Amino acid sequence: MAGLVKSFNIKARDFNHAGEASISVQSLLKSMNYNPKLIRRIAICGYEGEMNAVMHGGDGFLRIEIDSDKLVLEVSDSGQGIEDIELAMQAGYSTANDDYREMGFGAGMGLPNMKKNADQIIVESEKGQGTQVRMIFFIKEGDMPA
Ligand SMILES: Nc1ncnc2c1ncn2[C@@H]1O[C@H](COP(=O)(O)OP(=O)(O)O)[C@@H](O)[C@H]1O
Ligand SMILES: [Mg+2]
Repeated sequence: MAGLVKSFNIKARDFNHAGEASISVQSLLKSMNYNPKLIRRIAICGYEGEMNAVMHGGDGFLRIEIDSDKLVLEVSDSGQGIEDIELAMQAGYSTANDDYREMGFGAGMGLPNMKKNADQIIVESEKGQGTQVRMIFFIKEGDMPA
């Protein structure tokens, strides 16, 4: 049974609002009393995914699906896509330009961090086809709302 689903828009290159979608997901999960450690893992994944859409991708959305046995976080954008997903997943790999590096981005640790913090990650992308990242967090004992 599919549970509650909430979606928040992401606007490419809009650094004034970048990060707001992941904060909204974080606030929602907090209000539902999920385990803070689980929320933190999801917040990291949401933020990294959202910033990737803002910097490298295109307009899109961050979506959370709340089921009794798992939480599914999806970040989807309609940007230029990723040509070589395996390469993009490697620690330290980044195509961020100097402007982004000056802003403190471009360490190439976003996707590796998402992989580390999610129980499962599925990246789907093709050049010119946008990018979709789905991350699954299985609910374990102690994660459930009190
Ligand atoms: N949504 C996206 N759209 C297009 N390219 C992306 C997207 N997300 C990641 N990438 C590519 O994968 C690379 C690695 O991403 P990441 O690990 O988050 O590092 P960083 O964002 O610091 O460059 C990016 O530099 C970019 O080339
Ligand atoms: Mg990144």
